[in-house]
Amino acid sequence: MITTELQSAEHKIINIKEIVPGYNPRSSLDIDEDFIKSIKSLGILEPLLVRPKEGKYEIIAGHRRLKAAESVGITEIPALVRDLDDEQAEHIAYIDNKERKDYTPIDEACHFAYMKEKHGWSLRDMEKAGYGDHTIIRHKIGLLTLPERVAELLARANSLTERHCRHIVQLCDREKLTKIFAENRDNFIVPENWESEEEQEYWRWRLNQEIKYRQDYQIKLAEQTVQNEWTAKSLEIRVRELKEELDERMKKIKEEIEEGKKLNLIMDGIYFKSSADMKELQENSVGVVITSPPYLANKEYEEEEVKNHENPIEWYKDLLHKSFKECYRALMPGSYVCLNINDIPNINTVLEKDAPSEMQPIAEIVHPIMKEIGFRLKDIITWKKDDPWRNNPHVKYEEQEGCYRILPSREYVFLYQKPGTRKITPSQRIDSSIAKEEWAEWASGLWNIPSVRKNDDHPAKYPDELVRRLVKMYSFKGDIVLDPFLGSGTTVKVARELDRKGVGYEINEKYKPAIHAVLSSEE
Ligand SMILES: C[S@@+](CC[C@H](N)C(=O)[O-])C[C@H]1O[C@@H](n2cnc3c(N)ncnc32)[C@H](O)[C@@H]1O
Repeated sequence: MITTELQSAEHKIINIKEIVPGYNPRSSLDIDEDFIKSIKSLGILEPLLVRPKEGKYEIIAGHRRLKAAESVGITEIPALVRDLDDEQAEHIAYIDNKERKDYTPIDEACHFAYMKEKHGWSLRDMEKAGYGDHTIIRHKIGLLTLPERVAELLARANSLTERHCRHIVQLCDREKLTKIFAENRDNFIVPENWESEEEQEYWRWRLNQEIKYRQDYQIKLAEQTVQNEWTAKSLEIRVRELKEELDERMKKIKEEIEEGKKLNLIMDGIYFKSSADMKELQENSVGVVITSPPYLANKEYEEEEVKNHENPIEWYKDLLHKSFKECYRALMPGSYVCLNINDIPNINTVLEKDAPSEMQPIAEIVHPIMKEIGFRLKDIITWKKDDPWRNNPHVKYEEQEGCYRILPSREYVFLYQKPGTRKITPSQRIDSSIAKEEWAEWASGLWNIPSVRKNDDHPAKYPDELVRRLVKMYSFKGDIVLDPFLGSGTTVKVARELDRKGVGYEINEKYKPAIHAVLSSEE
């Protein structure tokens, strides 16, 4: 602890060039016009405090005076020279500054943490040294664990206050999390092909994921507080609710690690079988279904079935009926199926009829099936994709007799809801907000999204962006996002990127490499 007996001081006039920078607890030295004017007319009245340092003088107190003097061209400056050790100098620098102008909460917190780390000061030492009550000091040091974005809002005028932040801090107790992970590091089971170095770092990676998960909520709540001008009291209620949920999550993580469960493996939740039976999924457990079933469009994965069935339309209806009935069972009440599909341009090619071409609106097939299962049609999104003549050399301008054919560059996303009300948790309520700009673009139901051009490992991929919007609009963080017709794995990949659990069924094992590649890519 600091000694109060200071060496005697010596008054001197020092050339400004002889002064070197020293410890300064204030992160910004804002000097107003009035201060500069007074220095200009009267000079520096009160001496700076400095200590001798390698033939020069290190400034301890008076950083603002020194900066103002420099700015008006003063070269000689009065100073009090004292022999001080680091501990004394740094403590005095803090106290002197505090008396002149309020610190930002983060500046104070940094100084407290610095004294603790560098000089081994306890909270009680700081209290005795005049830094305030030890519990307040502890709270302040806690502010340093806040994500940068929250600290930024705290530093801004008329934004977050320190009282707000004291609540937000509670959502991410790094020390407690680190302890749980460190104590159980040997229990982590890692993927077989990992290098030993990666293995060692695995638990640390999982810990950081957990910290990030909680920090996301800290940022969201801080932003919502500023946007909605919540008082510290109303924020406290939200934090308390969310904290209960996060504590529950912490308990589960602890159990998971203690049991040595495999975590986050690439092909977890991917089943190579027909979605006509999804017994792996519990009733009322899925948050949203996002999918694109076969379209009866002569793709390689449906060719055989169409050929083998006398009435392919009946086969097709049966396929949809069975799979979506299973989806209905697995979905939580009030949740959605987002079904991407298209009209059949010429039904007679499917039926192998030698009749003139005739279009089959897909809604006539799909809606009765979904209605019969129990779903309610809520909305239809029109997806405007690339014009077919832009990237398909076979589709081109041709003069026709009398009239022209439409070559549609649109598909649909039918939105069906399972009746009931979706129950959501406090964290899901916080997550449910999408940015205003996104809402303004998406709410019209007309979505302009380029098609996937690279279809070399699967012939009918839909774009990540289509799925991203649907995931954000119709599910919540932590939800299971199910795709019963997984194809190349797009839905699961996007779901994971948005912190959902992706589950997929794909009947064709030949798409396994494509799915593995998509899910292990870092894009
Ligand atoms: C239109 S593709 C889906 C493409 C996917 N959205 C993507 O981005 O890659 C339909 C997929 O459903 C698969 N499929 C067909 N019948 C199925 C069934 N009964 N169960 C599971 N998958 C099936 C097909 O093999 C095909 O890969």
